Amino acid sequence: MTTTSTSTRLEFRKLTGRIGAEVTGAGPALELDAGTVTALRAALNEHKALVFRGISIDDEGQQRFARYFGELTTAHPTVPAVAGAPNVLPVDSEDGRSNHWHTDVTFVLNPPQASTLRSVVVPPYGGETLIASAAAAYRDLPAPLRDFAGTLWAVHTNDYDYAIPPESLDEAERERRAVFISIRYETVHPVVRVHPLTGERGLFIGGFAQRIVGLSTGESRDILRLLQAYVTRPENVLRLAWEPGQLVLFDNRITQHYAIDNYDDAPRRLNRVTVAGDVPVGADGKQSYALKGDASHYTPVAGAGRGVSSPGAS
Ligand SMILES: [Fe+2]
Repeated sequence: MTTTSTSTRLEFRKLTGRIGAEVTGAGPALELDAGTVTALRAALNEHKALVFRGISIDDEGQQRFARYFGELTTAHPTVPAVAGAPNVLPVDSEDGRSNHWHTDVTFVLNPPQASTLRSVVVPPYGGETLIASAAAAYRDLPAPLRDFAGTLWAVHTNDYDYAIPPESLDEAERERRAVFISIRYETVHPVVRVHPLTGERGLFIGGFAQRIVGLSTGESRDILRLLQAYVTRPENVLRLAWEPGQLVLFDNRITQHYAIDNYDDAPRRLNRVTVAGDVPVGADGKQSYALKGDASHYTPVAGAGRGVSSPGAS
């Protein structure tokens, strides 16, 4: 059988110096051969976020695409899936707006290793997604702060400090929040996570990180704010404007993201499919551990050792 590998047609165009690349040559249906998947994985390791434009896939196609990178999670540990598509989470402006910095589902023991977002309804203006490199943030830290961060562990929970206090919510919002925390999760993760495929270090904090183990609430907040300021530096952030037929794949182990709430009352809908992840490992080689909540109905655990290569090898 003679087939031409589509990987030979792949091209990557960097979108910023530190994060993001646009991919061309993967085809509108994103049906990939093994060589292409390998090339995309290497590009994901390097660029952290890959943007595909002019694609033509439905929920089924998005699930197939995400599965090239590992087993899927279900839609969410507590939030219902799209009807008939158990691995698809609707990210709909009708159901709230993720205008806070976070890494997806870090309150469970093994958060997704990668997330895909696909445009379904694009607002006429605004609604961009910001994606930040937590690796660049770590590299930006002065050496004493880098060393200090490497000693810290943080408790991540889905019952986190919301930007909007409960008394300001309407009934529908209160109901959504109740569903979100219908199972309460608390997991301790290293503040500096070592990427299992590249050995690269990144700050692993974000909106679900509530406090630092061994420190008071006030001390925790100050330190998390100090470190988070490096993640959200404009130089470390890709600002992705959505258009129809677009999909982004980002490495959820070493990025944070934020959905800008700047599109008034226009509808906005993305569908999310996530790839099951490994248990994070810190700079000292120790693994994350769960304090509360079982997520085995949501995600299998990916083997951390699978495909490990030395830094710079891919
Ligand atoms: Fe998210």
